[in-house]
Amino acid sequence: LFGYKTNKVSGYFTPIAPIKEDLLTLPSGYQYHVVAAFGDVINQNGDTFGFNNDFTVYFPIEGSNNRGLLWVNHEYSSEVFVHGKKVGTYTKEQIDIMLYNQGGSIIEVYRDEAGVWKMDTSSQYARRVTGLTPFKMVGIAAGTASVNNATQVQGTFANCSGGMTLWNTLLSCEENFEETSADCGLDPTHYGWVVEVDPFDSSFEIRKHTNLGRFNHENTAMGLANDGKIVVYMGDDKKDACIYKFISNGIYSAAAGKANSDLLTDGTLYAADLKKGKWIALTIEAVQKLLNDDAYKVPALITKKKDELKAIFLTQADIAVYTHEAAIMLGASPTDRPEDIEICPFDKTFFVAHTNNDNHGNIHGHITRFFEKDADHGAMDFDFEIFAAGGRQSGFSAPDNLTFDSNGNLWTVTDISSSSMNKGVHTSFGNNGMFIIPVAGPDKGVALQFASAPTDAELTGPWFTPDESTLFLAVQHPGENTTDVTKPTSMWPHRAGDTIPRPAVVAITGFTF
Ligand code: FEO
Ligand code: CA
Ligand code: CA
Ligand code: CA
Repeated sequence: LFGYKTNKVSGYFTPIAPIKEDLLTLPSGYQYHVVAAFGDVINQNGDTFGFNNDFTVYFPIEGSNNRGLLWVNHEYSSEVFVHGKKVGTYTKEQIDIMLYNQGGSIIEVYRDEAGVWKMDTSSQYARRVTGLTPFKMVGIAAGTASVNNATQVQGTFANCSGGMTLWNTLLSCEENFEETSADCGLDPTHYGWVVEVDPFDSSFEIRKHTNLGRFNHENTAMGLANDGKIVVYMGDDKKDACIYKFISNGIYSAAAGKANSDLLTDGTLYAADLKKGKWIALTIEAVQKLLNDDAYKVPALITKKKDELKAIFLTQADIAVYTHEAAIMLGASPTDRPEDIEICPFDKTFFVAHTNNDNHGNIHGHITRFFEKDADHGAMDFDFEIFAAGGRQSGFSAPDNLTFDSNGNLWTVTDISSSSMNKGVHTSFGNNGMFIIPVAGPDKGVALQFASAPTDAELTGPWFTPDESTLFLAVQHPGENTTDVTKPTSMWPHRAGDTIPRPAVVAITGFTF
């Protein structure tokens, strides 16, 4: 199996040192194969794999660890490598290219007799979901004035990370939607949501879940409260932004299958107050009470004036659309860019990667561990600790996506921006990487490097097959600092015939213990 037992770290792999090469480097004994790269044809219709792959999630076909569907997010498009330079405004053709290359891909993957993972382009399932695909809006804000009465909207983009549901669908998170919606002339209230897709069933209406709030969504981590309600933890990847959880009103039923999706359209959204250790319910009544109090001063973090806020916050749907403003006004804690959240499989604690926040001198970020009262995801009280801090001593900086293996080790990938990488206080870290951090045992909190990314790239979306014999990983934005397409700063994955670097998903194998 992947990973190592926490009391036997050195027996399983030898951590690698920081590296600056234009390579995806793994410890001795492990290898990777490129499964799909930007521009590859994915199906018989000739659809192609989008740009800047991020979140990956593997859905076994008939329970197999050797054949399944892989959903892959495509977070953003590149002026240099994809849609071309903006001259004044983008042309319609450029907008269509930009939107096509964002969203997600569903591809079918299999491991051949030689043990090599490949894409099966004859798949009946392989398809694209893009910035041009129609979406249904569901939940409290659907069809309301808060979203210009929209019940159907155009496409998804800025898809960063996501999560799997308990009913075998996926959630994909719209993160930095502002730039693309402005560039493409699209209504910003139609983006910044969590979207749901069923990779196996194209007749399942792909949807945007408005009850999960609208902000710079990083990912979702779904669990069950002790009373059987659905709980979804979510980060808002912005400086000085909050940690959220949604609790459904209804109870999860395994027998209900995909109909459980409706549980996400009825419930309460909470934000975390780290000073009091309490979850604050975000309600229109509480926000209006504040705004109607003449003595109330709007916190400095909110750029809108009190009169503007009074005009915005009219119904509960407005809480869904302007979630961050509501959370800050109601006393939720601004934190240092809360990125991925994952639930520990053993004790129901949950971990939040705070990537960094240069507003407060938190340059290297940290990972926080939350303890819900009575180990209940439905609790209203919690405690927390800094589980691991970035910096020279720990060896990592800017933690981003998280995942757990079945030995209880936390895996994290790092997201030092390509403009800061290998410079100044980031010199000692080398390129971005992937690290294993045991959650218990003698190596608790120690980061051991498992992978190093190519030049300018970040590693994203780590996802294991159920038996942990394979780890899927996305290599995002290799060669991002390129300004002249004829002189790319990276040529990863160094495929014969390529003239540009290509973001690609790889399958890592090699575990024999
Ligand atoms: Fe797209 Fe928060 O990383
Ligand atoms: Ca991320
Ligand atoms: Ca990031
Ligand atoms: Ca990224």
